[in-house]
Amino acid sequence: MERTFVMFKPDCLERGLLGRILSRFEEKGLRLVAMKMLRVTPDLAKQHYAEHVTKPFYPDLEQFITASPVVATVFSGPEVIRVVREMLGATSGLKAASGTIRGDYSASRQMNLVHASDSPESAAREMAIYFKPAEILQWTPSLAGWLQAPSEV
Ligand code: CMP
Repeated sequence: MERTFVMFKPDCLERGLLGRILSRFEEKGLRLVAMKMLRVTPDLAKQHYAEHVTKPFYPDLEQFITASPVVATVFSGPEVIRVVREMLGATSGLKAASGTIRGDYSASRQMNLVHASDSPESAAREMAIYFKPAEILQWTPSLAGWLQAPSEV
């Protein structure tokens, strides 16, 4: 089972879309294994978005990501890193396909509602920034056997 870091950004909480978007991951059958609400500080933003710190849009990104609380989560499932990225759609809500989360709810490149890891290396790095190992739970929902065949997990 693969794990991915998924963060519901300030625009998601400000717009009251947390429940609706979380439901899409639950309905897909992805397993929620960690969750916390927090406010991203400027230092945390620089750590999380280290690869973007030198980019021209970074000051706006930091202002945005620190403006209101976020909800940090970890989901697990087969191929979950790719599956979540495909559910989100392209980075910009203006380009994301209809039917994806950003395509349906975002009309912005910056305010794109949800962040998700783009590789196993990013997932490991981002999970470690936001969660202690003991905060990421191991559990098997009762319905797990109706979501995947034993040979798929
Ligand atoms: P995310 O997937 O969290 O990764 C980096 C974030 O920076 C991205 O989503 C957007 O919120 C933001 N971002 C990426 N590109 C741009 C851009 N060109 N202008 C403004 N914000 C951007």
